Amino acid sequence: MAMRSGTTSSNACARAIAQHRRPHPCNRASASSLYPHAMFTSSSSPSGGEISSSVAGRAAFELRRKIEENKGQVSSRWRTSMATQLSHAGLSKNYGDEEKSKKFNSPLSPPIELATTFERPPSGEYGVDGLIYSRSCNPTRRLLEDAVGRLEMNFKESDASYEYDQDTIAPTFAFSSGMAAVASLILACPSPVKLLIPKDVYHGVPTQLYNSFSEHGVSHESVDMTNLNELYQEIEDNVRSDGTLVVWVETPSNPLCQVTDIQAVCNVVEKLRRHKDHGRILTVVDSTWAPPCITLPLSLSTDVVLHSGTKYLGGHSDVLLGIASCSPTTENGRWMAQRLRAVQTSVGAVASPLECWLTLRGLRTLHLRVERQCQSAMKLAEYLHGHQHVVKCHYPGLKSHPQYAVAKEQMSMFGGMVSFEVESETLAMAVVGAVHIIRRATSLGGTETLIEHRASIEPPERRTSPPGLLRLSVGLEDVEDLKHDLEVALEVASQIVHTATE
Ligand SMILES: Cc1ncc(COP(=O)(O)O)c(C=O)c1O
Repeated sequence: MAMRSGTTSSNACARAIAQHRRPHPCNRASASSLYPHAMFTSSSSPSGGEISSSVAGRAAFELRRKIEENKGQVSSRWRTSMATQLSHAGLSKNYGDEEKSKKFNSPLSPPIELATTFERPPSGEYGVDGLIYSRSCNPTRRLLEDAVGRLEMNFKESDASYEYDQDTIAPTFAFSSGMAAVASLILACPSPVKLLIPKDVYHGVPTQLYNSFSEHGVSHESVDMTNLNELYQEIEDNVRSDGTLVVWVETPSNPLCQVTDIQAVCNVVEKLRRHKDHGRILTVVDSTWAPPCITLPLSLSTDVVLHSGTKYLGGHSDVLLGIASCSPTTENGRWMAQRLRAVQTSVGAVASPLECWLTLRGLRTLHLRVERQCQSAMKLAEYLHGHQHVVKCHYPGLKSHPQYAVAKEQMSMFGGMVSFEVESETLAMAVVGAVHIIRRATSLGGTETLIEHRASIEPPERRTSPPGLLRLSVGLEDVEDLKHDLEVALEVASQIVHTATE
């Protein structure tokens, strides 16, 4: 029932205040101790006559704020769930800020701050907010960085492998693309730098290492990250007394959907950190395929987590952005946060304000999109797994997947990416040619389902994907339409290829 203005609403507010005057379980101070008596008596008190609706609203606001503040002190710390946090990502929030709360008509959706420079006050001092020049700081970028930094720390104390303060935000840095984030991270490492990268990894990572970093003394080696003995040996063989050894995890991997046990890898690294005289050993997880509502690598002792925000975080195939969050609880994470901040400012591969704003808007629906994408991916994987023209289906949610147990433990959902293999490259290309609803394009994480023949996009000299492998980024369409599209495409492709070879 809509509340009418005037006496009725005032009485309702007064009753609400009167209720709050009883000590709240989370609040040792009662309303009467929070407010001067005069506040209730001038326009009358909750136990007596009237107060104006604006006074009631203001009083309720202040009381609620006090309750929330006290909650932090007296009860076990409580934090909103991931879904709630995502739904409000980047929204302007006056709550708790005395000055701002007086401005009730501030915009809910944040403005896009395009200014590249910020005027100094006549005294010449810059404010404490660090707003000088937008390469070093931009308000819209900072909103996104804080929102992601908060999400990456949104785990229960019981899920963390260490003690942490629930109010902590992971220091986070937004870049102009996922690859700009990768490059900035490497630039932030003291040399000599060596990376141990997974055998199955987004091909852009080795391409960047070969094309842009190999001549600058950065070396790398491919390791099977799902084989912990091999990893232990590789670290032991490569660790040096100086420089940086980066253990690079990508899970699930692109394109084979291999799942790496993040905590187990961090344990192996920690063991070696303790037993050897060495330079830095840094753990980095590219969690692009498992956004924060699926996996939180910082809860599993990782030093740095990275995303191509171009994918799920943006979520609409219209943003190019990368983001890296550093653990505030590992020594390496704190160290990297300082270095990455310096590289972000000095190199300047920063995300633009518009891209940051679009990513913030994308975040607000991330959980719903990803939930639906994961449900549909599971159904499509089950369908493809048993299909007569499909040789192999790679999806962490299938019980036949080699790392199913790890995926179940580490991921809250199994992801929206499915890869499957048909018997030849020719057949794979024919399937891609025959889809009708599914779109033929690279990239992933958008609302539309995409199909891609992976091997043909990889540099010819370093093809690692099986020739018959097709990668699906599952979107938000009706899954029955997608299933039908694949069913017809597989049948048509098979007819074309097999008729031609008969
Ligand atoms: C796992 C992974 N990491 C990083 C990237 C690079 O991101 P961007 O295209 O935003 O540079 C991609 C791109 O496809 C990716 O799939």
